[in-house]
Amino acid sequence: MNGREQWASKLGFILAAVGSAVGLGNIWRFSYVAGESGGAAFLLIYVICIFLIGLPVLLAEFTIGRKGQTDVIAAFTSKAPGKPWVLGGFFGLAASFFILSFYGVIAGWVLYYIYSYFTGTAGAVEEGGYGDFFESFIGSSGGPIFWQVLFMAIVIGIVYFGVKKGIELSNKIFMPLLAVILLFLAGFSLTLDGASEGLQFLFSPEWSAFGDAEVWSAAVGQAFFTLSLGMGAMITYSSYLSKDNRLPSAAGTVVVLDTLFAIVAGLVIFPAVFSFGIDPGDGPGLIFVTLPEVFNLMGGGGTVFAIFFFILVALAALSSAISLLEVSVAFVMRKFNWARKQAALVVGLLITAVGIPSALSQGGPLTEATIAGLPFLDFVDTLTDMYFLPLGGLMIALFVGWGWRREDAFRESDLTGSSIAPLWIWFLRIVAPLGILWILYLNVVNTPFFQ
Ligand code: PFF
Repeated sequence: MNGREQWASKLGFILAAVGSAVGLGNIWRFSYVAGESGGAAFLLIYVICIFLIGLPVLLAEFTIGRKGQTDVIAAFTSKAPGKPWVLGGFFGLAASFFILSFYGVIAGWVLYYIYSYFTGTAGAVEEGGYGDFFESFIGSSGGPIFWQVLFMAIVIGIVYFGVKKGIELSNKIFMPLLAVILLFLAGFSLTLDGASEGLQFLFSPEWSAFGDAEVWSAAVGQAFFTLSLGMGAMITYSSYLSKDNRLPSAAGTVVVLDTLFAIVAGLVIFPAVFSFGIDPGDGPGLIFVTLPEVFNLMGGGGTVFAIFFFILVALAALSSAISLLEVSVAFVMRKFNWARKQAALVVGLLITAVGIPSALSQGGPLTEATIAGLPFLDFVDTLTDMYFLPLGGLMIALFVGWGWRREDAFRESDLTGSSIAPLWIWFLRIVAPLGILWILYLNVVNTPFFQ
């Protein structure tokens, strides 16, 4: 592995991992999935999944990555050639490819909002008019594709020039700014009329929802998505790591920060959703309809605020998208012996092309062209989050839990001598696999694909 790239510093890796985790998943996806899945019960189950499955699997990914110093496929095969673990790598590779295809579409929507606030069109919409504003945008063909392609061009450009440059610095500055702006917005949302209803929706669970299999599936899917788990992004990032990071604390930092971002985003969105009488189950457009109403109420400063906010969200999306593309690029570079530039360009363009049907499926010309009853974007999202990510996560948990010698697993994860070491292995061997298998079973029984 001579000359393999490395993070510039200890902090660089943590920043990159947090940058991968915190993205559209925390703001866009968390709020719409929580909204569709009943709010508080979902939130509680999601937090349980984050700690019972997410944290142990994240530490396993970090461990595999740093030990392997290679891409997601070779990380499995070099340690245990000929064993089935590598399937986990293939699920991961496929998941990162397809997730990025629609991730670029949603990030494109964010870019369009930045542009519309700059040009004044978004700021000029009357109160209550953002639903129409959003729908007329996603219902067109050229618009969503243009902004998706622009976003993907930026992602490809950055991966083309090398993964480290820029990400570390950008995350150091913009992540904290995003946190500050979200906290401020949450404060503002909480002052709106009817905000308490939103709080109730988010924090006061209906206990009957705990028996709802769909809420569990949604929570596990979201836990994987938001932590960038099950698809090798964290394996790939930690493969650029030297020995001097403590992996357990890195994993803990990523999990805590990522979860806080989602909860604060919920505090911004749901009070506003209820205050404006928007349906929390509105689907993927939820933040694009709700937040502009909030900015609208802020008077003249609202536009400036909106521009800042959407730029920061776009940057958070960018650092996540880079990590998604890096999975396939690292694989192609090793497998076909391609240069980084060639790999970034070819794989990036392919992913962009695969994303185009998603861009056209949310009100545009391909809305009716459903697969298993779902529009293309929803289909790809469901397929990856309900199957590929849990399967990838399962293989990762089993690989480290059962495929490695205990001492090796402890040593490589920096857990030797720690009292949490046996607990971690127990989670990887039993708790996470059984939990994931149970969810996979529920998904098979309940999703449209199998009916
Ligand atoms: N975790 C990112 C988010 O929450 O937006 C999305 C993501 C990034 C998923 C990287 C998967 C991944 F490999």
